[in-house]
Amino acid sequence: MKTYRIAVLPGDGIGPEVIAQAVRVLEAVGERFELHFALETFPIGAAGVAVAKNPLPPETRAAVVKSDAVLLGAVGDPSLDAAPRELRPETGLLALRKLLNVFANLRPVSVHPALLGRSPLKPERLRGVDLLVVRELTGGLYYGEPRGRNGSTAVNTLAYSASEIDRVAQVAFEAARGRRRLVTSVDKANVLEVSQLWRETVTRVARDYPEVRLEHCYVDTAAMRLVSEPATFDVVLTENMFGDILSDEAAVLAGSLGLLPSASLGSGPGLFEPVHGSAPPLAGRDVANPLGAIATVALLLRHGLKQPDAAAAVDEAIAAALDSGARTQDLAQRGEAWIGTAEMGARVAELVVAEALEGLS
Ligand code: IPM
Ligand code: MN
Repeated sequence: MKTYRIAVLPGDGIGPEVIAQAVRVLEAVGERFELHFALETFPIGAAGVAVAKNPLPPETRAAVVKSDAVLLGAVGDPSLDAAPRELRPETGLLALRKLLNVFANLRPVSVHPALLGRSPLKPERLRGVDLLVVRELTGGLYYGEPRGRNGSTAVNTLAYSASEIDRVAQVAFEAARGRRRLVTSVDKANVLEVSQLWRETVTRVARDYPEVRLEHCYVDTAAMRLVSEPATFDVVLTENMFGDILSDEAAVLAGSLGLLPSASLGSGPGLFEPVHGSAPPLAGRDVANPLGAIATVALLLRHGLKQPDAAAAVDEAIAAALDSGARTQDLAQRGEAWIGTAEMGARVAELVVAEALEGLS
């Protein structure tokens, strides 16, 4: 039996709590599908700064590049808000993305029918929402040089090469092929040269995918459409910063940021992390929603380990838990009962196994 080496990076805040539940579900999957996982835990973020004065310690770097997939919780800690850039937890995450060269970040958003009432949007707008944000992850303003601060002046640089745009566009078109075959490329081509190159390059890539429809949309319009007609999107392709903003906006559709998973893919091991952050006020209280981290396990199985059946089993178990009325605090309507982080993880893990028993009968 093949052993999959998973580097587990719980990180900060609620990261360790949600990752503990994700691991519990992964273990249930291992049992049911007879998959063998070798899990090893390494520090990142403030946890890295605490043990090695480095938000991405050398030991962690060495482990992730040798792994089959990386499962990450969240980074960020208010105690380091004023720290120099090289000690900030976010710097560790950005360096990790760069190290693994995971240039394509997939953030699927759909609305579970039982949670239609959780979003501030009217249920009729939410029906049929099933979109995938494909966010460029290793370029753009996050990494551009020059960057820096000089007294009362500061600079960041937005730069993309055609090849960086080309490779992430291919990921978006490949994904669209297996979905509703529409790519909405989001840019600001009426103002930015980078966006003009983006539009040109995406249009060229589209020629290799005649069965997929391509539309271009300015980012301001895209932001509006995401709340006014979200069901009209299939794959949303965009650069790093726009994708960061639009994916948080899209999370509102699902009812809670705590539900959403992401996969960051390149040519080597993928990086799998929930979309939410470290949520310091929730940490250590068993109130965080682990479903985003658990759904991330499904993406890890599907895209990282090419185990689509195991991935589907996790998605089904999450849906079954929600159908049965299980709610964490963020999902509970006023007065509704809710369960803790660990309890939710236990329910989903049980359901993964129960589905197997159902299949036998
Ligand atoms: C995300 C986060 C990160 C980002 C932060 C923590 C650096 O917001 O993954 O969306 O901006 O990429
Ligand atoms: Mn973000």
